[in-house]
Amino acid sequence: MVQKLIDWLDERVKIRELYASQMTEYKVPKNLTFPYVFGVLALITFALQVISGIILLMYYKPVIAHAFDSANYTIMKEISFGWLFRHIHAAGANFFLAIVYLHMFTGIYYNAYKKPRELVWIVGWVIYFVLLTTALTGYLLPWGQLSYWGTVVTTEIPASLADAPFLKSIFAAIGETISFWMKGGYKLEDLALGRFFGLHVLFLPLVLMALIGIHLFLVRAAGISNPDGYEIDKKKDTDKVVPFHPYVTLKEGAVAMWYLAIFFFFVFFNMSHFLPADNFEPADPLKTPPHIAPEWYLLGFYEVFRSIPSKFWGFIAFNLILVLLLLLPFLDFSPIKSARRRPLFFIMFIVFMFSSMALTILGTMAPTPTNAKLGMFFTALVFLFFLSLPIISFIEMGWSKIKGGQT
Ligand code: HEM
Repeated sequence: MVQKLIDWLDERVKIRELYASQMTEYKVPKNLTFPYVFGVLALITFALQVISGIILLMYYKPVIAHAFDSANYTIMKEISFGWLFRHIHAAGANFFLAIVYLHMFTGIYYNAYKKPRELVWIVGWVIYFVLLTTALTGYLLPWGQLSYWGTVVTTEIPASLADAPFLKSIFAAIGETISFWMKGGYKLEDLALGRFFGLHVLFLPLVLMALIGIHLFLVRAAGISNPDGYEIDKKKDTDKVVPFHPYVTLKEGAVAMWYLAIFFFFVFFNMSHFLPADNFEPADPLKTPPHIAPEWYLLGFYEVFRSIPSKFWGFIAFNLILVLLLLLPFLDFSPIKSARRRPLFFIMFIVFMFSSMALTILGTMAPTPTNAKLGMFFTALVFLFFLSLPIISFIEMGWSKIKGGQT
């Protein structure tokens, strides 16, 4: 039966040829390390988000009068297994960002952003940006206290441009316009909720789907990088490659099972981190909760923003970090790839990773003067990482010349 179906498809769309070219005859380096699995885990999480999101969409109501009840009563209590899909979606958002951060750190460590993979990195960066916007717009939808106040804080951030030391009135007008536009008025109301809903359930997921497709196409076109930093010629170096299926599929499939086991452990037994108690209280614009901070995946940027005494420069600093991340393939122009072969880069990578984590942890703490100083120190280290890349590149270009251009 299955054989007949495959024959039928093969006559029409050459399915066997497609399977062979994408699976059994598609070759990848045989020394790929564990962190190379994060791309596939991100794909799995995206699928979980789409499926659970579609189910939630059937019962959620995007108007202030019903949003909170539809999320917390209809979905959680009335619909069979509604709670399960809400848990999957809420935990999935956090797992998705965690996996994407790990995937980005892997790309940085192995310098997978370098020629010929610059476009893979750039499209990945756009995915990251769209993903953050998707998380931000989804956060408002349950209309709880945290959803409301978290979004108030985020939408007020562009207004900090008014703190500019020069061209004050122009920056103030730009900042306030962006802030007003994000909120859909002076206050978050039905207009904002409707817009956030439209963006979160349709526009942004469609954009993400298209971008992920382009990202995967580009990975296939450029070939996966190598942990040792050498480009493999798949035709000549036949002893250094293995077919994608069954070698990689089996290995990554096993990791995916472990990942899903951990994911569903949280979904069934430990959801208090992903659906915090404060958000089971309906949004009240007259009652500010004592601790409002953005979600953990934005805390690093938030700490950069708040530790710098001028709001204007804080705003510029965290946006600059985002831009520098995008420009990584051009800042690091050394011909040598992979932290394994680049001791100076390795040290700066550790500094960068440690500082990013420190900023995230500081973001959860009270804004005392000592914490602000620490925040500024780690912000400076993050900038030092980006600044060091062209310098390290120049030094390494000298080394590779000594070796006769061999990289
Ligand atoms: C929805 C999010 C994403 C998905 C589903 C995804 C998926 C994938 C997959 C399946 C691969 C190939 C296997 C691997 O190296 O893991 C890959 C490679 C890659 N991705 Fe992503 N990715 C996502 C986001 C990102 C982001 C945010 C960045 C960086 C800003 C990025 C940068 C890269 C790079 C540089 C590679 C090439 C890795 C190499 O050749 O070693 N990706 N991605």
